[in-house]
Amino acid sequence: MIQEMIPVERLKNRIGALAQEIVSEIGPDFVMVGLLKGSFIFMADLTRALSRAGATPQIEFIRLSSYGMSKESAGEVHLLGDVPTEVAGKKVLLVDDIADTGRSLAYAHALLAQREPEGIWSCALLDKPSRREIEIAIDFTGFPIDDVFVAGYGIDYAENYRHLPFIGIVG
Ligand code: IMP
Ligand code: MG
Repeated sequence: MIQEMIPVERLKNRIGALAQEIVSEIGPDFVMVGLLKGSFIFMADLTRALSRAGATPQIEFIRLSSYGMSKESAGEVHLLGDVPTEVAGKKVLLVDDIADTGRSLAYAHALLAQREPEGIWSCALLDKPSRREIEIAIDFTGFPIDDVFVAGYGIDYAENYRHLPFIGIVG
């Protein structure tokens, strides 16, 4: 069962505004690094909103493993594949679907810092501040939400629901 929480129109409007915020803070030139798989739809929509806002971002992805098939985080983050090399000397915008404990974004931040970019900013479509276990600065947040388990719009529950165009609460 999934109950709609953030409808398509609200996602679209907020992402448009987020793109404006990003461009006014970091300028038009940067490399977006999306965390797979959860960010894939957000990345696609944010990229096009950024383009409309005048930005010319490059696109990279990294794949981290965390949740597995349950609603609880495994508590340990691993990298699957390589860290993009194209970020050296550039501005980097890390993009994730949800900031939960903060482990994934903290881990990705540390990985990318090794490539010596000019700077790293973080963007999460959803933020669950009450769940944070690791202090991380999230520079751009779409929607702060309560401690509920959500899916849709690229986000899964045991690999289901990613295809939904809206974000809903998994009951
Ligand atoms: P963190 O490392 O604990 O911050 O977890 C971040 C990752 O956990 C996100 O990128 C999501 O993939 C996953 N996650 C956290 N909360 C949810 C949820 O409510 N539904 C589905 N995935 C979630
Ligand atoms: Mg994820």
